[in-house]
Amino acid sequence: MNISGNTILITGAGTGMGLIAAKELAARGNRVIMVARDAERLQREADALRGAQAYACDITDVGQVEGLVDWVQENAPELNVLFLNAGVTHTYRLFDGTDAASNARLEMLVNFVSAVDLTHRFLPLLEGRPDPALIVTTSGVMYAPDTTNPTYSATKAALHSYVQSMRYRLKQVGSPLRLFELVSPLVDTPFASGVRSNEKAKPETVIADLLHGLEDDTFDIRPGSSQALYEAWRADPEKAVAMVNEATGA
Ligand SMILES: NC(=O)c1ccc[n+]([C@@H]2O[C@H](COP(=O)([O-])OP(=O)(O)OC[C@H]3O[C@@H](n4cnc5c(N)ncnc54)[C@H](OP(=O)(O)O)[C@@H]3O)[C@@H](O)[C@H]2O)c1
Repeated sequence: MNISGNTILITGAGTGMGLIAAKELAARGNRVIMVARDAERLQREADALRGAQAYACDITDVGQVEGLVDWVQENAPELNVLFLNAGVTHTYRLFDGTDAASNARLEMLVNFVSAVDLTHRFLPLLEGRPDPALIVTTSGVMYAPDTTNPTYSATKAALHSYVQSMRYRLKQVGSPLRLFELVSPLVDTPFASGVRSNEKAKPETVIADLLHGLEDDTFDIRPGSSQALYEAWRADPEKAVAMVNEATGA
């Protein structure tokens, strides 16, 4: 796909990889709509970029999401790219007294259910535009779970499965939508602050790989160690679980 001249909505754009993506895409002449909950931070970051706008929204709140869709229809009807990148995790160990179900509920809602909701709401809009694309951030832990982020890992496996279903169905109905999956490795962002590892990639490197992947129409983008993990998982799934958990000191 062409990585300039688009209108792109990015969720989770206030920090980490979403913010770097917003900066890089704005610098390439895209109009960027930045979405996250922390309105003040989002506004500050968007103000520093040419061609970016902030829209504060909790993507798990149906009323707020309806407001976002209405706002886009009114103010950015040319939207042709949706980047579903927001995510949350809880770093803990199973069976140590942590309320795993409560962690799982929030993670599933943010990481999976909201992605389903947003794709259904935005798909008709995107498909009516030239060169529509959807980008979804999953994680290498969908292949082999990080047992210090156990319920989170499961949400990314669910999201990956959903991406496969969407791809199959979009092809069946002849949709023009390009669907990219960014399979992120462990990255040095606020998100991973609770994960002990000296193998964290720089968010700038991951986003540079994402942009190359988008340009080349590489639909499965696996930066850095996520490619190695993918290959290990294909060769020996159990070894891949060991590989992930050694990296995080689990
Ligand atoms: N860092 C890693 O090691 C790693 C590895 C694999 C995959 N990933 C994935 O990469 C994506 C980006 O994460 P990151 O590493 O860049 O971490 P990050 O800096 O923590 O970014 C996550 C973003 O999601 C937003 N967010 C969280 N809950 C939200 C909600 N309910 N509504 C709207 N926005 C919400 C946060 O902003 P507010 O708090 O302002 O809402 C934040 O901007 C996530 O999907 C994550 O699962 C990260």
